[in-house]
Amino acid sequence: MVAIDVSEGQLATARRLADIHGSRIEWLHGNAETVPYPDGSFDVAVSEYGAALWCDPYAWIPEAVRLLRPGGRLSFLTNSPMLTTCYPLDGSEAGFTLVRPYFGQHMFDWSGVEIDPGGVEFNLAISDWFSLFHQHGLEVVDFLELQAPESATGTQFVVPADWAKRYPSEMVWKLRKKP
Ligand SMILES: C[S@@+](CC[C@H](N)C(=O)[O-])C[C@H]1O[C@@H](n2cnc3c(N)ncnc32)[C@H](O)[C@@H]1O
Repeated sequence: MVAIDVSEGQLATARRLADIHGSRIEWLHGNAETVPYPDGSFDVAVSEYGAALWCDPYAWIPEAVRLLRPGGRLSFLTNSPMLTTCYPLDGSEAGFTLVRPYFGQHMFDWSGVEIDPGGVEFNLAISDWFSLFHQHGLEVVDFLELQAPESATGTQFVVPADWAKRYPSEMVWKLRKKP
């Protein structure tokens, strides 16, 4: 098992947790858009708000495909493009108003916003994700739009529970590299 992250600090935390659980993992300090491994090295690739949010899909999706053997699986979890359409421009909570175009979305730079400045994130319209997968020989095995349960309250990562009960705040793609 191999894990990659650009942050030494995050890798140190991951190493500590892996030791607690007795997991044997090789740690790479680097950019998930260019992974120093030969073609077809992996059976499975997973991203949970790592490359899936912080890397450019037009770079990291072809890189993940290169790293997988034919028939290998790629699964990732990230924000829904519906959510990115409703994030206010100042960095505050997601609201019920559309604040930017859905079509053509790609890069979001949160570094200059008033509330809780962040980094540069990426997302695409669903049809653009499909085109990208098709272009790189990935079949869609499953696609999930996550809905908050009725019991959810409060706000998590700037998404109010009421919002996430009505609209998909997160999505999961399960993909397979064509044999
Ligand atoms: C929200 S965390 C989630 C990480 C992991 N899935 C977890 O559950 O701990 C996002 C991670 O992506 C890393 N990251 C951001 N850009 C990256 C890149 N270009 N290549 C590799 N990792 C990156 C960050 O350093 C951070 O550790």
